[in-house]
Amino acid sequence: MESSDELAVRLTNLSREQFWNVYEEFEWPEALDPERYQMQAELCSLYGTELWEDMTEEQRKRLSLYEIGNFFSLTLQGERPLVAGLSDRLYSKKVSSEATEYLHHFIDEENKHMIMFGIFLNKYLGKVYPEKKISLGREYGKGEEEVAFFCKVLVVEELGDYYNVKMMLDDSIEPIVKRINWVHHRDESRHLGFGRRHLTELAEHWLPQWSDETKKGFSDWLGQYVRSSWADFYNPTMYKDAGLEKPYDVRKMALAHPATAEHRAKASKKLLNIFLRLGLLEALPAM
Ligand SMILES: [Fe+2]
Ligand SMILES: [Fe+2]
Repeated sequence: MESSDELAVRLTNLSREQFWNVYEEFEWPEALDPERYQMQAELCSLYGTELWEDMTEEQRKRLSLYEIGNFFSLTLQGERPLVAGLSDRLYSKKVSSEATEYLHHFIDEENKHMIMFGIFLNKYLGKVYPEKKISLGREYGKGEEEVAFFCKVLVVEELGDYYNVKMMLDDSIEPIVKRINWVHHRDESRHLGFGRRHLTELAEHWLPQWSDETKKGFSDWLGQYVRSSWADFYNPTMYKDAGLEKPYDVRKMALAHPATAEHRAKASKKLLNIFLRLGLLEALPAM
């Protein structure tokens, strides 16, 4: 099997071959087509609920605009600490020199993603939804902070990629949205390859040194972190912007609905299986 340094070199070469200019990559339309879905209907947070069934096609399409706005905002807000954490690791003992070289591209690409999402959000929604996640602050034992950082990277990238892959080939949604999902996935497939491998090595290094108590504490935190990441998809401000009444009740209803729980379990399957396989999660958290 390819070593992680060999992988980093290969990914660096790929990033250089596919180097792109965020200011030339897109033709931004003047306005989005209100006749189209923006977020794919099946990915909208209320899909499968009675409320969704009761909505008119026009209301659903209106919601889909704010849903894509929320999804792009979540991704952008997740990329900010990701870039901060990755740049902290450049030229440090935490990563090899081959990995440092690749991290320059990882950071460059994430910075371009934030520009791309930022342009879309400011142009068509007039805003970026602020970050809501409560920080699950905790005391870290040896190696825990490093493992936790790369777990968070994988959560934002794996969940986002599930949505990107569903939308990047969908001709029924707005073409610029399809294109953004495609461009994002193109870079993310490399980031995910690096992230999975790096986390595997960190887990193999640190887990044998952790007590059962530390492992249990970490697993509980990780399950909670995944759940709180999902809760952000049910943003009351987004429901309010879409013209829905009692947006906090809508969020509560949607999060508790079996149809959405099924969606979250399906979309998290790959991510949770990685955590289980590495021993970072002791059991599947309730979705
Ligand atoms: Fe990204
Ligand atoms: Fe990424």
